[in-house]
Amino acid sequence: MTDTDAGTTGALDDAFRGDVLRGLGSDPRAIPARWLYDHAGSGLFEEITGLPEYYPTRTERALLEKHCPEVAEIAGTGHAVIEFGSGSSVKTPILLQAVDPAVYVPIDISGDFLRESAEALARSFPGLPVAPVEADFMHPVTLPEAAQKLPRIGFFPGSTIGNMVPRTGVDLLRRMRDNLGEGALLLIGMDRVKSETILVPAYDDAAGVTAAFNLNLLDRINRELDGDIPRGKFKHCAVWNESHSRIEMHIEATEDVDFTVAEKRFHMGKGETIHTENSHKFKPRDSRLLLRAGGWEPIREWTDDKGWFSLILAEAAPDRFAP
Ligand code: AVI
Repeated sequence: MTDTDAGTTGALDDAFRGDVLRGLGSDPRAIPARWLYDHAGSGLFEEITGLPEYYPTRTERALLEKHCPEVAEIAGTGHAVIEFGSGSSVKTPILLQAVDPAVYVPIDISGDFLRESAEALARSFPGLPVAPVEADFMHPVTLPEAAQKLPRIGFFPGSTIGNMVPRTGVDLLRRMRDNLGEGALLLIGMDRVKSETILVPAYDDAAGVTAAFNLNLLDRINRELDGDIPRGKFKHCAVWNESHSRIEMHIEATEDVDFTVAEKRFHMGKGETIHTENSHKFKPRDSRLLLRAGGWEPIREWTDDKGWFSLILAEAAPDRFAP
């Protein structure tokens, strides 16, 4: 994930203020999840990925280890691997090792984070050209020269697509298709629907790391937007929303509370919440429909023994005349 300390400057600062003031004043209250990832939040998220209750990271890693050789067989060699996000020190090497690409292109909005992880990868794969692109991949991206004439494999692990509402997820998939071009492949991780007794603890762990990750947003608001929100009067809560097929994270007021942010006054009654994140979970048909709506035709799908997480290889198939 992105954002890091860049939030302390210029345009990002304004965007943060705008989102927070709008979000605290709206009904229901909601602040976009991207703001959870300041320096402390990114560190806490890293910690979450190693928690016993948080199954997605280890399950996806095992799927990548098992099935990336098959991805390589299907794809062939000499590709540009384009990763949407800075790249994970654990997952990305598994794909690169198997696919042996001609160039690796991580795309991320946060330059510092991107450069750090690109340098680390270049050290682990000394012969591999690494060409990071600092850009918002929700918009058109010009791929570096080295990737222009190569076949492409997009990589979007972690079920990050689940953090978007379906409309935004479809926009992103279509944008990826435009950026990668017809004939490209996309390897994407998507978390599956499962029992609430597994899902809720994954987002409300016994050690309280996810709670700290969520409540850190209040600290960030206080620090960066001159706020006085009393963190002690709020608690983390994670709920399963069956109708939307998603886990929602909220920050709930445990008593009536008044506070100021950027010189604006706010009141929240006991039990009222600020919605801070959605994490959609997919049934196999849901993921196929979402991918197809975004212009990607699934060609292979792998899942673990319990069916908890899926890794899907999809193709930007040519547009066909359809009835
Ligand atoms: C980054 N994203 C895929 C994580 C998820 O599972 O939705 C973010 C997260 N939030 C709380 N725990 C993990």
